[in-house]
This record gives sequence, C-alpha cells and structure tokens, in this order.
Amino acid sequence: MPERRPYVAGNWKLWGTRAQADEYCRRLLTLLPEASRRPADVGLCVPFTALDVCLELLKGSGVLVAAQNMHAAETGAFTGEISPAMLVEAGVQSVVLGHSERRLYSGETDRALQEKVPAALAAGLQPILCVGETEAEREAGQTERKLRHQVGEALVDIADDRLADVVLAYEPIWAIGTGQVATPGQAQEAIAFVRALVASRSEKAATRVRVLYGGSVKPENAVEILAQPDVDGALVGGASLDPDSLARITAAAGG
Ligand code: PGA
Repeated sequence: MPERRPYVAGNWKLWGTRAQADEYCRRLLTLLPEASRRPADVGLCVPFTALDVCLELLKGSGVLVAAQNMHAAETGAFTGEISPAMLVEAGVQSVVLGHSERRLYSGETDRALQEKVPAALAAGLQPILCVGETEAEREAGQTERKLRHQVGEALVDIADDRLADVVLAYEPIWAIGTGQVATPGQAQEAIAFVRALVASRSEKAATRVRVLYGGSVKPENAVEILAQPDVDGALVGGASLDPDSLARITAAAGG
C-alpha cells in the first residue's frame, strides 16, 4: 500500500483580518519544524482577503494556502463569486469545497459541487471536499447512505486517474464546533467507508487518496484520531485559530 502523507489543514472560517493573518503566519512559522522534518503537510484555509498576506509570508515554507470556496464558472453574472482562475492567479494552491457550513448557510448543493470539484482540478487547484452526516442521520443509521450520496455526486465527473488528487474530509456535522469529537473508532469506520467508496471507482485511487477527519480536533485528542489506519490527517476549525494548537496537531500526526 503506498504511503499517504498526512495532511493537517487549519480552517479559519470567518476569522482572520489581514493584520491577524500577518501575526498568525509569522508565529506559525516559528512553531513548525522545517518542511522536510514535518510529519504532515500543513495548510491554511483562509478568507479571500487574507490569501495574499498568507501566500507572501508562507512563501517557500511548504505551508499550503487554500480558499474556502469558489464558483465553478470562469466568468458570468454571479455577483460576489470568485473563479478558479482568479484563485490560481493569486497563487492559491487549494480550495475547500462543500463545507457543511456552506451547505447549510449558503445553499451549497451536491449539484454545484459536481461542477466545482472538476473545475478546481482543471484549474490546478487541489480540492478539499467535505462530507458528513447530521446527528439525526447518524441516529437513524443513515451515515453510510449520506456519505455514499455526497461522495458519489461530487466525484461523478472526475476521471478515475484524478480521484486521488482530491482530498476528502469526513466531517460529521454533530462534531463540528461542538466540542463533541467522534471517537477514534467512529472516525476510522466512516473514513474507511469513504475510502471504500473511492475503491468502488478505482482501487488504485483508494490507496492513494487522503481522507481527513474534521470535527473538534484539538491537540488533546489528535494523536488518537490520527493514529487510526485510514485517517490521513485533520481539518481543524476552532483549534486552528491558535497557531500553537495547529503546530501541536501537526506534531501529533507523527504519533
Ligand atoms: P471544528 O471545525 O474543528 O471547529 O469543529 C472543523 C471544520 O468545520 O472544518
């Protein structure tokens, strides 16, 4: 089985003025080991207005910079939207797609993601595609049905040989920002299922694709979660706002 390099990404959500981004990046760089000695890839998912500040300060550091959304179209009557090419021009390497908060508050649909994921790949951006069930769905035994639907819909137009270029993030909605973290066993089980969904398209892609866990990851619970065999890293919200916590979670990826 090929080695999958762990990935720890901080998702700032609606946080990070340019001044905060500046201070954060400078501090993070003092806390992270050199790229070659890091046990995981590290990324920051930041607001559009902070992208250039982060890109400038993190240049050459190996820390990836991601946007938190984009539109699939290149141009058009879509006021307030940003295109893949605009992100690429700005120097951005990656983009979060389908975060549950965008699905809930901004009307992000599986149909839109079906266009966004291929558009991101075609532009040269690494998509971080988020999927996950609500508490009610879990209690009703619908977790696998929901994951099958979300993963299937979003990846339907991705060629098998590009599937592993998508980073998947399993984020149970009941664990996001609630302090209620999935048990390592729950994270492993759901993520193994997500990997099996990829395997049903391509066995080879399934061994290479990285599937992260997200939902109340903190330095205190990261080691156990990241030690699960199918968990390839973490998408970290609240705890990532403290660069020290993000650096500690990154260290936890090393065991
Ligand atoms: P949280 O958020 O770590 O604050 O739970 C995770 C996410 O939404 O990506």
